[in-house]
Amino acid sequence: MNLEQKVNLNGADIYLDALDLNAQHALVADIREIAREAPLFSPETRFGKKMSVRMTSAGQFGWVSDAQGYRYEPQHPRGVAWPAIPQCLLDIWQAVAPDAREPECALVNFYGEGARMGLHQDNDEADFSQPVVSVSLGDEGLFRVGGAERGGKTASHWLRSGDVVVLGGEARLAYHGVDRIKFGSSTLLSDGGRINVTMRVVT
Ligand code: SIN
Ligand code: MN
Repeated sequence: MNLEQKVNLNGADIYLDALDLNAQHALVADIREIAREAPLFSPETRFGKKMSVRMTSAGQFGWVSDAQGYRYEPQHPRGVAWPAIPQCLLDIWQAVAPDAREPECALVNFYGEGARMGLHQDNDEADFSQPVVSVSLGDEGLFRVGGAERGGKTASHWLRSGDVVVLGGEARLAYHGVDRIKFGSSTLLSDGGRINVTMRVVT
């Protein structure tokens, strides 16, 4: 892994080009395997609105959302256990967050054409001393980060395939989201789109 080029966006550390093309392809293969065992689904917000991003998870817990709200569950909505977190993801976590506990969830987000993710905090976890680590694959996504209060100043950066983001310390509860993707900007995924995997400690 290449951790040499790092930029800071409102406290979020972005490791540019952290994964080379071979590592990116290997990770995509692992993610396709996860999606075979635990198919992608379109969660609804607690207000009943379908999200444009499709999701699944690996690990002891997966993140789900429906009329009952946002939470982690030990099973996929179909009633099967989530697949294990692949070793190559655990290696990335270990490289950028060596002092953290092991991640218990790897949330896979798939952004097709037109998909986006509104500004939100990752706050369904129990221990905010543990970072959130995200890996971007495929098309570029315009990532926006603000502070821990809604409505604060934000800064934006186009995340590219192979970039790794760490939301830790002061930035752990930073509002963040993806305004849009540049559909077709990468050839990594044969049908286009963007994958983002975020690893979290849940308990
Ligand atoms: C997320 O906040 O879960 C996803 C962030 C991203 O897609 O880069
Ligand atoms: Mn998030």
